Amino acid sequence: MSEFALELLDISCTFVSRDDAAQRHVAVAGTTLRIRAGEFVSVVGPTGCGKSTLLNIGAGLLEPSSGQVQVFGQSLAGVNSRAGYMFQADALMPWFSALDNVMLGLLYRGMPQVQARDEAQAWLHRVGLGAFGDRYPHQLSGGMRKRTALAQVLALDPDIILMDEPFSALDVQTRQLMENEVLALWAARKKAVLFITHDLDEAIAMSDRVVVLSAGPATHPIGEFVIDLPRPRDVAEVRSQPRFVELHKQIWNVLREEVLKGYAQQLEKI
Ligand SMILES: Nc1ncnc2c1ncn2[C@@H]1O[C@H](COP(=O)(O)OP(=O)(O)O)[C@@H](O)[C@H]1O
Ligand SMILES: [Mg+2]
Repeated sequence: MSEFALELLDISCTFVSRDDAAQRHVAVAGTTLRIRAGEFVSVVGPTGCGKSTLLNIGAGLLEPSSGQVQVFGQSLAGVNSRAGYMFQADALMPWFSALDNVMLGLLYRGMPQVQARDEAQAWLHRVGLGAFGDRYPHQLSGGMRKRTALAQVLALDPDIILMDEPFSALDVQTRQLMENEVLALWAARKKAVLFITHDLDEAIAMSDRVVVLSAGPATHPIGEFVIDLPRPRDVAEVRSQPRFVELHKQIWNVLREEVLKGYAQQLEKI
């Protein structure tokens, strides 16, 4: 079996403009990204550079214009069934309770009702929502909805977890709580994680490796850093370690320029 859970190999992705089919936008070009089984990798880059595009390609939700995706050494065709996803926006069904939301995927996989209920309840408990299974999404706080979404993903026991800025809408304290919980759950089960963020502190605090993307168009990796901070980590406390500060400085040196370019591009669009 391949040592890599997920490989994006020489990926390019060109979008055709919605308004003018003759206009093409090269979002991603010549990008190779490999994630080992059990490895936690973050990808950082300025807004609009192509992070979500890469994640969607890894999920099999978007086909690249060229290049290959390999999942545990096998070429990916269609949706990546070894992966679970968590996106920035809630994907909870508003008319189902938290418990039913977590159960859905299990039932869909053919798990008997009683077993699915027990399993879903156990996962809600693990994310600290054991007593909230009967609440509907609108009765939950933003943090609690994220916890439900996390339980939903983890209950399916995917070998690869794809997260696209999952906590960016949360306040700082809730966010740090969630980040620590994700790390604790990950440490217990060691799945391959591809974590997308535009927040460098979050990327360093969580990851084994941080990959920096260039600003678009034709986005590609321009730096890769091994995060050799000891684990277990507390995401709030780790920030004051001298090694964290040093890594932050090194990576920010590479990222700064790209963020400025990305920001200038955003302004042009307004
Ligand atoms: N479906 C699409 N059609 C056309 N352009 C797209 C589409 N998806 C993304 N893009 C463009 O590709 C670039 C990268 O987008 P995205 O991957 O969402 O960036 P990020 O997640 O880093 O903010 C952006 O310029 C965006 O406008
Ligand atoms: Mg995005």
